[in-house]
Amino acid sequence: MSEKRVREMELLVREVQPGDEEAIVAILNPIIETGRYSVLDAPVTVEAEGEFIVGFPARGVFHIAEDCRRNKAVGFQTLEPFATYTHAFDHVAIISTAVDLSSRRHGVGTRLAEVTLDKAKQKGYEKVFTYVRADNDSALKFYRSLGFRVVGTAERHAKFGRSYVDEIIVEKFL
Ligand SMILES: CC(C)(COP(=O)(O)OP(=O)(O)OC[C@H]1O[C@@H](n2cnc3c(N)ncnc32)[C@H](O)[C@@H]1OP(=O)(O)O)[C@@H](O)C(=O)NCCC(=O)NCCS
Repeated sequence: MSEKRVREMELLVREVQPGDEEAIVAILNPIIETGRYSVLDAPVTVEAEGEFIVGFPARGVFHIAEDCRRNKAVGFQTLEPFATYTHAFDHVAIISTAVDLSSRRHGVGTRLAEVTLDKAKQKGYEKVFTYVRADNDSALKFYRSLGFRVVGTAERHAKFGRSYVDEIIVEKFL
């Protein structure tokens, strides 16, 4: 990752707060609309995102990246407990990253991950886990660049109409 490209953006990573829902939806919905990167198959409303922010788990980490030069949110990342029905998974978190389609490959995702993974460690997580669409080459390369390793493939795990998509499971120990 080039520090220079991040500096060009004047990136600020901070915790998400109520009121950020509009900016988040403005990043997320165009990604969903492409039908290429996410398993989400319907746009998210500002109201639903607002509820998600307010109900976000206390042990979670939710960061937003802003380009201060343009006063514009360019990405966000969530990290949540993998499961809460047992304490056996208390050390495992699940992560999700989204960068504005026009701001990709400028180091935004990497900067978000630096801050998020550091906070995750502070919160006692030992391992971070996620699922990536097998046809999402950029996301796979992104997580690998952060030191995630491929655990395996869940075949035909997502289904869109009649088409199946495999999901690659990746993990990183903190
Ligand atoms: C995947 C995603 C989060 C990456 O964020 P980003 O800010 O573009 O990533 P970065 O600029 O920090 O890239 C870090 C490294 O990841 C790898 N990488 C990222 N995108 C890549 C691409 N399109 N092709 C090849 N390598 C890529 C590179 O190694 C890159 O380092 P480099 O640019 O110095 O070569 C972003 O592309 C995105 O939001 N995509 C749409 C949503 C999505 O797929 N989310 C993940 C769902 S599991």
